Amino acid sequence: MSKKICPSILSADFSKLSEEIREIEVAGADMIHCDIMDGHFVPNISYGPYIVKTVDKITRLPLDVHLMIDHPEHFISEFVNAGADYISVHYENNYHLDRIVNYIKSFNVKAGIALNPATPVDVLIDIIDNLDFVLLMSVNPGFGGQKFISYVLQKISTLDALRIERKSKFLIEVDGGIGSENAKEIAQAGADILVSGASIFRSTDKAGELMKIRKAIS
Ligand code: DX5
Ligand code: ZN
Repeated sequence: MSKKICPSILSADFSKLSEEIREIEVAGADMIHCDIMDGHFVPNISYGPYIVKTVDKITRLPLDVHLMIDHPEHFISEFVNAGADYISVHYENNYHLDRIVNYIKSFNVKAGIALNPATPVDVLIDIIDNLDFVLLMSVNPGFGGQKFISYVLQKISTLDALRIERKSKFLIEVDGGIGSENAKEIAQAGADILVSGASIFRSTDKAGELMKIRKAIS
């Protein structure tokens, strides 16, 4: 499978969201990453299902919804109805991960578990074959525009090795601090989906930055 670029709209200019999404769509984005923050699990509030639904009307690209919220089980169906194609929930604030993964899959939506930088990949060992993807956070969740945490590179390699050993098919998504300058090493470590927010949307040439990332990982 070819590597996917998944721009996060967290750093987009929401006053011209449709224009910005069109620009990155034309430039070759593969999916759109939607960061949902509740001010409890992470120290920031972003947006909810209404914006996801709006994004779904703007684009034909698959929507990847990253839930950084407490009690995500209460909102899964709302995000599915809003157009989510991929949904990830965090390991760190969920007691019943197996239940919620099956619940997400029951809607025919791809289910993933997100891990904070300091959470080891080993915690997923028993459930991993049931996952469609694992989202490795490469910044502490809550804000766009932070620096990539370098020890996450080793986590990507560890997870990739585990995937080979188990002959599993889950995808590895990496999220935070990714741009054209470091995309290559992240992809080479084993990432399949690269989320990039600030590097693309805070650039004066969003399409150009996306294409630079594409070149770096091809
Ligand atoms: C952080 C979010 C990320 C963020 C990535 O909590 O999960 O998806 O938007 O943005 P950058 O690329 O700016 O780190
Ligand atoms: Zn995210």
